[in-house]
Order: sequence, then C-alpha cells, then structure tokens
Amino acid sequence: MQQVAIDYDKVLNEVFEQVTDLTGIGQVADYIPELKVIDPKKFGIHLATVDGQHFGVGDSEQRFSLQSIAKVFSLILAIKFEGGDLWRRVGVEPSGTPFNSLVQLELEKGIPRNPFINSGAIVICDVLCDHFENPKEDLLVAIGELCGNANISYNEKVAQSEKLSSYTNTAHINLMKAHGNINHDIDKVLDVYFHLCSIEMSCRELAQAFLFLACKGVDPVTNRKVLTVGKSQRINALMQTCGFYDEAGEFTFKVGLPGKSGVGGGIIALCPGKYAIAVWSPKLNAKGNSFKGLKALELFTTKSATSIF
Ligand code: DON
Repeated sequence: MQQVAIDYDKVLNEVFEQVTDLTGIGQVADYIPELKVIDPKKFGIHLATVDGQHFGVGDSEQRFSLQSIAKVFSLILAIKFEGGDLWRRVGVEPSGTPFNSLVQLELEKGIPRNPFINSGAIVICDVLCDHFENPKEDLLVAIGELCGNANISYNEKVAQSEKLSSYTNTAHINLMKAHGNINHDIDKVLDVYFHLCSIEMSCRELAQAFLFLACKGVDPVTNRKVLTVGKSQRINALMQTCGFYDEAGEFTFKVGLPGKSGVGGGIIALCPGKYAIAVWSPKLNAKGNSFKGLKALELFTTKSATSIF
C-alpha cells in the first residue's frame, strides 16, 4: 500500500486551535512554590521529524521547567555508565501509584519500582554521584552533550524552592538509605536531584533533543551515535510503561507513543522512525500530567494516524 505523506503543519495547527480554547481544566503545580509563578495560559507544541523538518506553534520557543522529563536524561547517563548492573538498584515495572508515593517503597525494601517515580530518579542521581567528580556541574555538561545543546541551564530559584518544600523526597531518600540503596550523603544526592528537575528547555529544544530515541539511538541530524540500539529501545519501553505514573495506561491507550511528563506542564513523546513532539501547558490534571498536553497529543496521533499500535 502506498503511504500518503502526512501534512504535519496542518495537523499541528488544527490540534493547537482545538485545544487552545479548552478552559476550566487543571491546576498549575503549587507544591514547588516557584512553579506557581508561571502564566497558566502558556501553550506551545513543537514537532521535529527525523528527516529534519520542524513545526512549532504557540509558546514553543519559550523555556520551561522540565521537572520529571529530565529523569529520562539522568537514566540514559546511568545506563551508559552501569549497563545491566543498574537494575539491581531500581526496577522496570510500572508503579500504578502517584510519582511521589511512598507505599511500595517500604513494601519493596527500598528498591524503587522504576527510574521515573521520584524514588527511582533519586537512586539514579546517587548512581551518577559514583561517576561524576562534581555531580551538579558534570551532570549539566553531560546532559548538554547528550542533547547536542550546550546552552541548557539549571533554574536556581526552582531548585531552591523545591529544596525548601522537599519533605516527601527527603522521606524517600531516608527510607532508601535505611535499606542500603543510597551510597552518598543524602543532602548531596537531593541537591543533584532538585537541580536535575530544574533544568529548562523549550518545546523546540526538547523535541530536537529526543530525536535520537526515534532513530535507534542515532542523532539523525549529525549521525552521532548517542546510545546503542538495545539501550535506546529500553528507554522507550520504560517511557511507554512508566512515563506517566498512574496514568501510563491511559496515555498508551489514548496517545499510543512512548513519552514522559513533568509537573512543569511539559510532555515529550516520540514516534520511532518518524518524529519527536514536545507540548507545554502548565495546568495539570489530578495525576500531575499536563491536561492540554495530553489532549493535544491524543488529537495529534489520531489525526496523523501515528500511534505505534
Ligand atoms: O520531585 C518532584 O516532586 C519534582 N521535582 C518532579 C516531579 C514531576 O515532575 C512528576 N511528574 N509529573
């Protein structure tokens, strides 16, 4: 059967128009006070295709707080350093619980279900502390290299704001330390974690940065091999099964792509062999995922018929 080329520009603009006017939905994250200052009406989408096309709408060039989206970058770095040994300290199962839930962690003796819930991402930061001399500084450089973007930065205000309200994450790390799954000083590891989450990028930068995961680990622009095929597949598998916490099933059901959300209101998703797409809208649903972001991606994969299933 002959494949009809998708008019991405048209689809993206239709989706943007349809979703822009949805109102009365969700709340901007406020448990990190500094995230509350963002204009809730911000909305941007950027699509980067593997053959080098770019389509952006709305606030797609404005940087926002990556929060949990950055956990994909830290996981990639940890896998590169540790290979299969990493899975002794963190699992690969969906949690079915909220991103900050402590319930399973006690039952499962300090081994987090997966690297994207908070406890899992904190263990990953502890692993990175084994490999970096100056973890905070080295992490930013390493993520910049991974994304082919040397201009990224931490937002100190956001990192400090999260630190001041970090009671739950402090509980997570203490519980894991008690079970022997944290090697480094607790404050040092949390400082790395808060800074990781505070990294800012725009939808355009994010879509560009994730393209290698749509191309079996190879950056299609530079031909640089970022990850092996096997590791790239496993990162996508984890995004598919665990990228949206207790809404991972719903995202798979409605959108049908591997992806990752953050409480800054961003979502990144990718379609192997075709594209990476980033959406940003700060108002979150009850599960902590961008309301408009989810809606936009559902419409996008429906209209373009690009669900992987
Ligand atoms: O640890 C936290 O609570 C935040 N820094 C990140 C949480 C987050 O983005 C969860 N994802 N939707």
